[in-house]
Amino acid sequence: MDLSKKIREIEDFPKPGIGFKDITTLLKDGEAFKYTVDCISENLRRHNVDIIVGPEARGFILGTPVAYNLGVGFVPIRKPGKLPGKVESYEYSLEYGTDVLEIHEDAITKGMRVAIVDDLLATGGTVAAATKLIEKLGGEVVSIEFLIELDFLDGRKKLDGYNVNTLVHYSEE
Ligand code: PRP
Ligand code: MG
Repeated sequence: MDLSKKIREIEDFPKPGIGFKDITTLLKDGEAFKYTVDCISENLRRHNVDIIVGPEARGFILGTPVAYNLGVGFVPIRKPGKLPGKVESYEYSLEYGTDVLEIHEDAITKGMRVAIVDDLLATGGTVAAATKLIEKLGGEVVSIEFLIELDFLDGRKKLDGYNVNTLVHYSEE
């Protein structure tokens, strides 16, 4: 199935000149959604993962059905102030300013084989932060899975050394 045909592009969102890759059109298409989740799950099967980690919010949408498919648990990475237990935090830079992501400090235990699932690799900041949080807790990031990658932003460079898989690539803006 050509998933790129299921992703809608919205011009000038969130600001002029940006073509937003809208996955809601893929998500509402039952066949395309199932195919996406199954492809990511298949990529992960050989890695014997213990747990799936997904960053809020779109990482929850794809990460949880993948975890269910593989019969493993799911750990959320959230924006600050949302997780009720003790957290590990990581601050990372954006184009303007900084952002923080958090994970429960007891969510990952030493030696766990972890896969990260998110919808989009853009600059790589979000998932690079996720790898830091997981590794700080002693987890091993065995694979990182994306639905979409914006090749022209070179986010993959921030994930050097990791096994990174993407289903749909965009080579130009
Ligand atoms: C989007 C997207 C990825 C991230 C990719 O999330 O879902 O998580 O940006 O960008 P990066 O590679 O430059 O870090 P966003 O922070 O917009 O929030 P959302 O998932 O809650 O919509
Ligand atoms: Mg996101």
